[in-house]
Amino acid sequence: MSLTFSCMQRSQFKGEKDTLALFDWEDDKINAIGWLDSKKEALMKNMAQKEGFKGKPGELLVHYPENAQPSCRLVIVGIGKKKEADLKHLRLATAKAVRAALKQSDTLWIGIPDWPERAAHAEALAQVITEAAMLAQYKYLKHKTDTEETKQDRTLKNVILVAEKPGDLPRIEAGVKKGKAAGEAANLVRDLVNEPPSMKRPLTLAKLAKTFATRQLKVRVYNKSELERMGMHALLGVNRGSDHEPAFVHLVYKPSGTPKKRIGLVGKGITFDSGGLNIKVGTGMTTMKLDMAGGATVFAVLKACEKLNLACEVQGFVPLTENMPGGDAYKPGDVVKALNGKTIEILNTDAEGRVILADALAFAAKQDLDAIIDLATLTGAVLVALGDQITGLMSNNDRVATDFENAAKAAGEKVWRLPLDKDYKERYKSKVADIANVSFQGGTPGTIGAGLFLQEFVDNKPWVHLDIAGTAWADNDSTMGPSGGTGAMVRTLLEYLTN
Ligand code: BES
Ligand code: ZN
Ligand code: ZN
Repeated sequence: MSLTFSCMQRSQFKGEKDTLALFDWEDDKINAIGWLDSKKEALMKNMAQKEGFKGKPGELLVHYPENAQPSCRLVIVGIGKKKEADLKHLRLATAKAVRAALKQSDTLWIGIPDWPERAAHAEALAQVITEAAMLAQYKYLKHKTDTEETKQDRTLKNVILVAEKPGDLPRIEAGVKKGKAAGEAANLVRDLVNEPPSMKRPLTLAKLAKTFATRQLKVRVYNKSELERMGMHALLGVNRGSDHEPAFVHLVYKPSGTPKKRIGLVGKGITFDSGGLNIKVGTGMTTMKLDMAGGATVFAVLKACEKLNLACEVQGFVPLTENMPGGDAYKPGDVVKALNGKTIEILNTDAEGRVILADALAFAAKQDLDAIIDLATLTGAVLVALGDQITGLMSNNDRVATDFENAAKAAGEKVWRLPLDKDYKERYKSKVADIANVSFQGGTPGTIGAGLFLQEFVDNKPWVHLDIAGTAWADNDSTMGPSGGTGAMVRTLLEYLTN
């Protein structure tokens, strides 16, 4: 099912049975598509006029073969106004082209659009096209048996990027390589998030992470007795209601040269969140296999580091457990001691993410790192505040936060910074422990409150917290992929680590 990518020059085009996708600027009216002979150009112009095709971002015009050049199935996709030349439009247009092609063809040829300052953008264009193609053709059919649905399922096998100028080919190849690594990483996150919860127990995921190890990527798994010895009692506390042992995974990617920067990535790894004794009600539990999306993102990004030959050192930290209401489950009123010695009073067992992250962040803060970034499906409140398209960002460091915001912009993902206002902190005071895991005081913001709680465990190291509870999961199918896990923030993280 894997999609292969290659690059060619236009003279090498021979796609009689394939689909050819060409991009059209909104102001162009099919004029500048040098691919078409005059007959076909006239035909397409006529068709565009009849159908009211304007070249708006993602707008499609599909034509079937006739005796004209090029003779193949032709898909023209709008990429918006040339003076706005926005990669996000190219991303959407590519995804549309892939969706239009995969119903009919095994091979899709994509003409690299004539972008302003084309040569300077060749790599980015190829990267965006490759990523979008991989995301758009993703499906999770692993557990479908041989039904009509799987029989009718068609996948694209090859994507060929076609360069206008042969001189662009090396940069296009570099872009394809980057795009493939990012697309594969995002689709791996999707696979892991979509996996049923009883098939991805903590030790199953830890074992999977071990298989990612290479000469440059070391993977160490701490088991339950090691966690006890180390003092990760917050993670152990959450684990008590589950019949399945917890694990903590530490991954270290070392570049070939001496790294200038060391970055730590921490990911929430709750393989199922029932809420524990504060059990979730009604539909609140149905999607809770998603609660390891942060951890899956850390695994996938670490796996991609070597493929991208990243120059920085990257460490990953993933605490893994179920949150279940078993007989020995941790209870409201219980106190657990985190790795850094701070005690936490549990007032709600459903605020478990911040509890396991307390240990993981404290562990990361002890390593020699320039910045720590955590990803967690942490609060339902972030979905209320920012919806399913914008990730909540919180930070104790303006520089790292700004760098990360810029990386998100470049990757075409949306983040919005929320203030970690100190005045809310005292609401997490506990009467019996150092800190409580929730505040019962009215007016306390859920997402910021969780961020303030986490901040207590980073030892003042430069840190960014990403609440992906809204963005890690899609309730509905979209052009960029089916409902389920989305792979949000993978591309942004790779962009951030690359620069
Ligand atoms: N895993 C949930 C957060 C979540 C909710 C993720 C919806 C994705 C979609 C988290 O562990 C949780 O239950 N948070 C509680 C915190 C509350 C008890 C303070 C919440 O948001 O309701
Ligand atoms: Zn919860
Ligand atoms: Zn949770």
